[in-house]
Amino acid sequence: MAILVTGGAGYIGSHTCVELLNAGYEIVVLDNFSNSEPDVIRRIKELTGKDFPVAAVNLLHAPDVSRVFAENEIEAVIHFAGLKAVGESVAKPLEYYHNNVTGTLTLLGAMREFGCKRIVFSSSATVYGADNKAPFKETDPLPAAASNPYGTTKLVIENILRDLCVSEEGWSAVLLRYFNPVGAHKSGLLGERPKGVPNNLVPFISQVAAGRREYLNIFGSDYDTPDGTCIRDYLHVVDLAKGHLKALEYKGAGAEAINLGTGRGYSVLEVLAAYEKACGRKLPSRQAERRPGDIAESCADASKALKLLGWRAELGLDEMCADAWNYEKNNI
Ligand code: NAD
Ligand code: UFG
Repeated sequence: MAILVTGGAGYIGSHTCVELLNAGYEIVVLDNFSNSEPDVIRRIKELTGKDFPVAAVNLLHAPDVSRVFAENEIEAVIHFAGLKAVGESVAKPLEYYHNNVTGTLTLLGAMREFGCKRIVFSSSATVYGADNKAPFKETDPLPAAASNPYGTTKLVIENILRDLCVSEEGWSAVLLRYFNPVGAHKSGLLGERPKGVPNNLVPFISQVAAGRREYLNIFGSDYDTPDGTCIRDYLHVVDLAKGHLKALEYKGAGAEAINLGTGRGYSVLEVLAAYEKACGRKLPSRQAERRPGDIAESCADASKALKLLGWRAELGLDEMCADAWNYEKNNI
């Protein structure tokens, strides 16, 4: 019996594959490599010394997805595959809804066809709205739509999974709401490699440190926070990967939303300072306008993950930055 990892060649998926293989799970990776490189698969195999089947399949192609289930005995699915660029989703809403929502429906159809009823889904802290107050709790009321189509795909998919679990006995869906995953594998072999200009803070700082960008724009310095810059709950991608193993072990039925974050927030300036410590020098930055859609503070109430899954983040901001820099240096 194997775990199907959709999007297993991506940033979070690849780290999770390593943890799964090291823990003795058999895996099958499904990825169309639209936002990842096939070489990541070789690196996962090199790191773990284990082999596994890889299906270069687009989730939107139902017959191909069914074939993966027909050819492998899949006991559960970890579903990472999706498009994730917030700005791009505003420009291309149809592509985002189609890829993320239709892709998930196709996957769930194949799971039902083959009697596989356990799924762990990559949701996001983006499902919480501007009206929620940090720290966010899973019981907080959610908005009908997020501030961008990407975020709304996560809300829609959470609802689909909830409805599915109500409709038929035996389904189990863990909706993992990630906060801000950063960092990389200690080896320097796996990490985040955004195409084009990075949208996210730590990948952007990494490129400034590597000399690929001139300076960091600090989006907004007049927020109602101690130093005026936005606060986020950053968590190490390896801690996040381990959270998926805990979610697989979870035996509850039905749909369960669970935050994965540290519960501790850091400002943009604090992250920059930690990265400067990691790379050993000052990095150029400039104050810039606020970025539309940003909220002052996003931080998890992480108590449910501890109570239900026995999971808590172990690695701190210094390790996140040190590992992000180590990956950047090794892969310039
Ligand atoms: P990623 O882009 O690195 O990985 C996603 C993978 O899915 C890629 O390898 C891509 O090729 C694949 N994929 C996309 N569409 C596909 C399709 N139709 N068929 C097959 N494969 C497809 O992203 P990531 O950062 O690893 O994120 C993984 C999941 O976690 C995503 O669903 C994302 O929305 C969610 N998430 C990410 C973050 C973050 O900050 N990275 C935060 C919250 C939630
Ligand atoms: N920031 C800068 N300069 C940059 C990039 C970011 O100052 O060049 C600031 C942002 O304004 C924000 C903070 O750094 O205040 C963090 O920004 P990120 O883009 O790294 O993270 P977000 O919290 O905005 O969003 C991320 C993902 C979303 C996801 C959300 C919650 O991009 O997809 O985390 O998981 F939904």
